[in-house]
Amino acid sequence: MSRFKGKVAVVTGAGSGIGEETAARLAGEGAKVILVGRTSSKLENTAERIKSSLKGADTAVFSADVTKEDEMEELKKFIQQKYGTIHVLVNNAGVSGKSTILNLEAEEWDRIQATNLKSVFLVSKILGKLMIDSSQDVDEETFSDRSIVNVASLSGHKAGAQIPHYSSSKAAVINFTKALAAEFAPYGIRVNSVSPGFTETPLTESGLQNKRFEDAVKRNTALGRVGNPDEIANVIAFAASEEASYMTGSDLLVDGGWLVK
Ligand SMILES: NC(=O)c1ccc[n+]([C@@H]2O[C@H](COP(=O)([O-])OP(=O)(O)OC[C@H]3O[C@@H](n4cnc5c(N)ncnc54)[C@H](OP(=O)(O)O)[C@@H]3O)[C@@H](O)[C@H]2O)c1
Repeated sequence: MSRFKGKVAVVTGAGSGIGEETAARLAGEGAKVILVGRTSSKLENTAERIKSSLKGADTAVFSADVTKEDEMEELKKFIQQKYGTIHVLVNNAGVSGKSTILNLEAEEWDRIQATNLKSVFLVSKILGKLMIDSSQDVDEETFSDRSIVNVASLSGHKAGAQIPHYSSSKAAVINFTKALAAEFAPYGIRVNSVSPGFTETPLTESGLQNKRFEDAVKRNTALGRVGNPDEIANVIAFAASEEASYMTGSDLLVDGGWLVK
């Protein structure tokens, strides 16, 4: 498949896990991918991985913090100068933490909200403006479908134990996605979210090293196993592609059947 041939895509949090797989998937289907994250060595590794499996792949590394407005404005300028436009944005960067509400420091609450929620607002606003402005200068046929995919979570549907800040931020991402979808629809930009269940990535690595925790996750998942990042990337790529051309304001739950159990 080459659903993204000639398209320019931005993936935040592309240095590991779901973001890395998504970047590789989009590049594999023809996209020029801009890899965003704070740690440039991780982004370089993703770029190397893509280039070693795909001759002629066009990837760019942009090291930045998605919670910082000035850095996202710099990202916009970089894209404008190098590519002129953007067709796909995957807001994937995210962090988690573990605490009860009674023990949760306000500073930690703010860190989680800033990374998981405020960043989705900031990046969508700044790069969404570029999508809208640049679509008026280009050939309609080539650039008819543009889309944003926000990575939410199963925890945005069902609050998990000791992740009140994380669950709240992800529920808000699902809701923000709907508001953004309504606002951007007149510009031909679709906006959807994907909500992964337990997926094996650096984010869940320490939890899954605990055998009892891993067994509990498997027990609570209808499919009886933890997910792989490429299984989430497949769904993100679908939502981002023209195959989902009549879908906007939706959340795609990819939880291995956690909620039906
Ligand atoms: N794994 C799961 O089970 C699961 C389940 C549901 C939802 N999710 C969601 O899926 C997304 C990807 O998570 P993952 O599991 O793939 O974890 P991950 O491997 O830790 O990836 C998260 C990425 O986000 C980047 N990031 C964090 N803060 C950032 C910031 N301020 N600015 C720019 N980049 C930042 C990190 O890189 P740097 O630290 O280098 O910046 C990292 O590469 C997250 O939104 C997560 O909440 C994951």
